[in-house]
Amino acid sequence: MVDGTDDLLTRGRTFAPDPDFAARATAGPELAEEAGRDRLAFWARQAHERVSWERPPTETLDWSDPPFARWFADGTLNVAVNCLDRHVDAGHGDRVALHWEGEPGDSRSLTYAELTREVKRAANLLTSLGVVAGDRVVIYLPQIPEAVVAMLAVARLGAVHSVVFGGFSAESLRARIDDAQAVLVITADGGWRKGAVSPLKPAVDAALAADGPATVRNVLVVRRGGNEVDWTEGRDLWWHEQLEGVADEHEAEAFDAEHPLFILYTSGTTGKPKGILHTSGGYLTQVAYTHATVFDLKPETDVWWCTADVGWITGHSYVVYGPLANGATQVLYEGTPDFPAAGRWWDVVEKYGVTLFYTAPTAIRSVMKAGREIPQARDLSSLRLLGSVGEPINPEAWLWYREVIGADRLPIVDTWWQTETGAIMVSPLPGVTTTKPGAAQTPLPGVSVDVVDDDGTPVAPGGSGLLVVTEPWPSMLRGIWGDRDRYVETYWSRFGDRYFAGDGARRDEDGDIWLLGRVDDVMNVSGHRLSTAEIESALVSHAVVAESAVVGAADEATGQAVVAFVVLRDKAKVDLDPEEAAASLRRHVAEQIGAIARPRTVVLVDELPKTRSGKIMRRLLRDVAEGREIGDTTTLADAAVMGVISAEMR
Ligand code: WTA
Repeated sequence: MVDGTDDLLTRGRTFAPDPDFAARATAGPELAEEAGRDRLAFWARQAHERVSWERPPTETLDWSDPPFARWFADGTLNVAVNCLDRHVDAGHGDRVALHWEGEPGDSRSLTYAELTREVKRAANLLTSLGVVAGDRVVIYLPQIPEAVVAMLAVARLGAVHSVVFGGFSAESLRARIDDAQAVLVITADGGWRKGAVSPLKPAVDAALAADGPATVRNVLVVRRGGNEVDWTEGRDLWWHEQLEGVADEHEAEAFDAEHPLFILYTSGTTGKPKGILHTSGGYLTQVAYTHATVFDLKPETDVWWCTADVGWITGHSYVVYGPLANGATQVLYEGTPDFPAAGRWWDVVEKYGVTLFYTAPTAIRSVMKAGREIPQARDLSSLRLLGSVGEPINPEAWLWYREVIGADRLPIVDTWWQTETGAIMVSPLPGVTTTKPGAAQTPLPGVSVDVVDDDGTPVAPGGSGLLVVTEPWPSMLRGIWGDRDRYVETYWSRFGDRYFAGDGARRDEDGDIWLLGRVDDVMNVSGHRLSTAEIESALVSHAVVAESAVVGAADEATGQAVVAFVVLRDKAKVDLDPEEAAASLRRHVAEQIGAIARPRTVVLVDELPKTRSGKIMRRLLRDVAEGREIGDTTTLADAAVMGVISAEMR
């Protein structure tokens, strides 16, 4: 949150672009002028210059059936060819595409020629397994080159991938396979995490157990962890065995610009995750454009590193599609920042000479906590730009990032966007914008956003409200998989023709935008979106729970933390030791959803605060969870409840 204390901290300090940087920057002020003159012509130029089309589009935007947009609809392309073959054809086959670093210290570099070959072979393999255009393929892999290969092989065939983050549980995986009606799952035996193999295959087995989704014909298993796995004959196939002898020639077909590229599930305000659908031409245009301009990419010389897992949208757009469409060289790292020791990330920066670095505020705060001597013991002089994404970055972390990692001189880009927006929407341009610690600041050229009040009226400078996107953009979601109504309802019912992002924002006196966090029942824990409703339904699925309410409470390390208030069934209250009950509920949530959703705190209460109409007053619970004075309780059915709950927190 941004408040008066932050102003004290930064004392209104701003950072003008370094003149040398600005002189050589990929994007200058003329970009905004061009987009301002003719927004659609601007996007058409981006599409033609950044994407190789089989049939170049003549149409730009079709908004005749809002909120269902079609971009570049008469164009055809193959997304994988754009990320691979065209760079080889242009003579860059020997350029490294991926410098992969495994957590145990093994490593592998793949050039564009090699990556292209791997993807062609994998595409042939998928074809032999019956995968055709339009089929859904679930990918549940660690951060290894095969994850990138699998995504691109699926895209090459015009099939649709749905990557599920490896930290999600069997239950979450099953729900996603089921919703997408996937025909194939690509997984691994296990991956490395904090010095040990973390198995993945058992979750797939559990997800596909007897009563699981029946659409899956095969499970392809990459060998990474070397751990023992159970095997279902006829269904399970080793990736490396199947690839033996597979041809490395593959003729790619071109698909319509609006052909589905992927589904990525994200938490919404209900218990059921939303399958966010992205398509091909517009998505690729905007990820390539933003990756090049926001990060000032120079593909011949830069070494890009985005630390996000491919299981999140940041990994889709800024590990796979953006950087590869731009022919960049990048680092892909399997493990955690602190294994085997706290400086691992900075060792990786030093080893590969990383120049552009993109990470999340939660990671910056944990590096801060470990102490500046750790990065300072490494040579970080290769770095020339730093980025942040996933949650509001507090000015203190911003300033530390710049001073300690950025040698007090590197530009920082704080990029606001969402799974739904597909690509960056609001961010400084490093050669143009005078940056303010903690603010995402300005919509990118071609993007139109506003901050409005509850009635949809734009707020005056200095005011706060809700962030909306006022014009369609090329990489916007095209819908929610299988749920047309929910798409309209969630994003477009509030302000009609403007996209409601679910984020609060402030516009300062200069017109710059500061993001203030979610305004709905979505939490942001370590940059990951979690739904209160989803965790509540996991809790009530436990036999001892009668009722629960979950809130996101401010947390210094993770931004927000999950705090669950739980009412036990009467019998359980008598039978169970409260501490054991809380521990077992925390475990239960991790099993149901994944470790990222595990509540930091479980508070057992006798009753939840409710209005007379029975609505849980989360606002009051948030006050308790954050140790604040409890707010207005006059609408409570039973005003005494809050006194009891706050006593129980102490
Ligand atoms: C939050 C991640 C403030 C926001 C790319 C958004 C941010 C949600 C920022 C999307 C930022 C992301 N400043 N808040 N720079 N970037 N957010 O879908 O609440 O995982 O709605 O996409 O993260 O999370 P998602």
